[in-house]
Amino acid sequence: MSDHHLSAVPEHVAIIMDGNGRWAKQRGLPRTMGHRKGVESVRDIVRAAGDAHIKYLTLFAFSSENWRRPESEITDLMGLLRTFIRRDLADLHRENVRIRIIGDRENLRGDLLPLLLEAEETTRANTALTLVIAFNYGSRDEIARVAARLAADVAAGRMRPEDIDAEAINARLDTAGIPDPDLIIRTSGEERLSNFLLWQAAYSELMFVPEYWPDFNRDLFFKALEKYAARDRRFGGLSKTLVAGS
Ligand code: FPP
Repeated sequence: MSDHHLSAVPEHVAIIMDGNGRWAKQRGLPRTMGHRKGVESVRDIVRAAGDAHIKYLTLFAFSSENWRRPESEITDLMGLLRTFIRRDLADLHRENVRIRIIGDRENLRGDLLPLLLEAEETTRANTALTLVIAFNYGSRDEIARVAARLAADVAAGRMRPEDIDAEAINARLDTAGIPDPDLIIRTSGEERLSNFLLWQAAYSELMFVPEYWPDFNRDLFFKALEKYAARDRRFGGLSKTLVAGS
């Protein structure tokens, strides 16, 4: 990797889909309706990402902290993902989309895990967009699971402590094989990462947009991509303009 380049189309965009609840509240609707409308935004943005020739789109659908929500909302979010996979898998497969799931696969309810595995398996060889769904995902949890695996590898004599480097960690993350996000977008005006891709976000451009997720659409997404294209990413090196002028 060169130590800087002018950004054009990001290879990997990750999105924190925030504001479903507030969108609903604003309209006097139950929170559930916000999540439902949010699934429509998911459909739009998946297509828009494909059209923009983005290679990886990661969506934060359920965090490991979301278990603190009322039981009915948890059931609803699990149900929405289940319905999304059931209804959209055939279309996504036809559109050559590959699906990857990241997050802890323990504690998923009923038929959800087999369904997610089926979606990954069916679309494994697809070559257009890779849609990464972060479900029951928390970055610290992911990193702790990596640490446990490294400890097990060392204890079993498969590696030495001094062999542990960034590459060894990358290879054991849920995102192994997926390039780091170039751009992370969070909707709804909140400006934080909330335990999302902390390791992977080391050099990501961050963008915070005021719209609630159910109002986020193709136009706003393309606007974000335009803004990204104007940013100068340096990866710890010098700006191209500075180098040219020196
Ligand atoms: C944040 O809004 C959104 C979530 C916690 C869930 C996002 C899930 C979906 C859009 C549906 C399922 C996903 C897929 C991929 C089909 P919030 O409830 O935190 O909103 P608030 O901050 O306004 O309360």
